[in-house]
Amino acid sequence: MQQTDPDAVLRDFGRLVRERACLPADRRAPGPLRTGVDLGTANIVLSVVDGAGRPVAGASFPSTVVRDGIVVDYVGAVSVVRRLKAELEERLGCDLVQGATAIPPGILPGNAKAIANVVEAAGFEVADVSDEPTAAARVLGLRDGAVVDVGGGTTGISILKDGQVVFTDDEATGGTHMTLVLAGALGIPIAEAEARKTDPAAADEVFAIVQPVVEKMAGIVTRCLAGHQVETIHVVGGACSFDRFVPLFAKRTGRVVVRPAEPLLVTPLGIALYGNAGALAGRAS
Ligand SMILES: Nc1ncnc2c1ncn2[C@@H]1O[C@H](COP(=O)(O)OP(=O)(O)OP(=O)(O)O)[C@@H](O)[C@H]1O
Ligand SMILES: [Mg+2]
Repeated sequence: MQQTDPDAVLRDFGRLVRERACLPADRRAPGPLRTGVDLGTANIVLSVVDGAGRPVAGASFPSTVVRDGIVVDYVGAVSVVRRLKAELEERLGCDLVQGATAIPPGILPGNAKAIANVVEAAGFEVADVSDEPTAAARVLGLRDGAVVDVGGGTTGISILKDGQVVFTDDEATGGTHMTLVLAGALGIPIAEAEARKTDPAAADEVFAIVQPVVEKMAGIVTRCLAGHQVETIHVVGGACSFDRFVPLFAKRTGRVVVRPAEPLLVTPLGIALYGNAGALAGRAS
């Protein structure tokens, strides 16, 4: 079976997204293109992979139409996905037919249906609905260990053993929570706090303020891991981007903590690796 370095694949995908580029048609593996639609609280991301599960193109848009897996603006969500789909189709020179999506673990069936409805209404045949940290695990080729997806609205936890998901949970804490804490501590508007949070020049000041949020997340994850033999935690999602996030998480959970390249893009790419695409790409399906 072909083996791929997840970090190299993620860096390639990151470049395709940022440069609004695509893998040329003559370098794509045969088979239908598959699209993953990540309806996140902070970002909507579409990822396209070829018949071998390699990234072909992707597009991201900051958005507030979905919160914690719940569609709060259906028309707005459909419109964003439709627009990103059209943009990618133009770039790729072909139609995107099959699409998959993902939900935070444990959301109610009605909310999961609404997520799938958005993808369908945007013009996709919905081929798969997986849970978010499980999608991330496909990219990382993970068969054993834990994936913690620290997104904008929620923190999803998935534990795998021998390639099977044995535990999932989703907790209402994430990057938005950090922004609220920062805004309160500094007495500044939320939009300003969001900008300050991602300003590398303010990293030390910001982390000192949001550290209790990270410690709370680590406490939640430690409780979830109790009773499971997990040595390594893979952290993904935008809110784990801080340099000091990984060492603090390792200290508080007592586990080895690793963060792949392009943490914001891991779950979105994994959503596109549904069916046998994950296995084709040399990863756990
Ligand atoms: N460099 C950075 N430093 C700190 N936080 C960051 C950075 N980049 C992005 N974030 C935060 O990551 C969050 C977005 O991450 P992500 O795109 O994984 O979330 P999402 O998938 O939209 O949300 P969810 O999965 O909870 O629905 C935002 O809160 C954003 O502020
Ligand atoms: Mg997410």
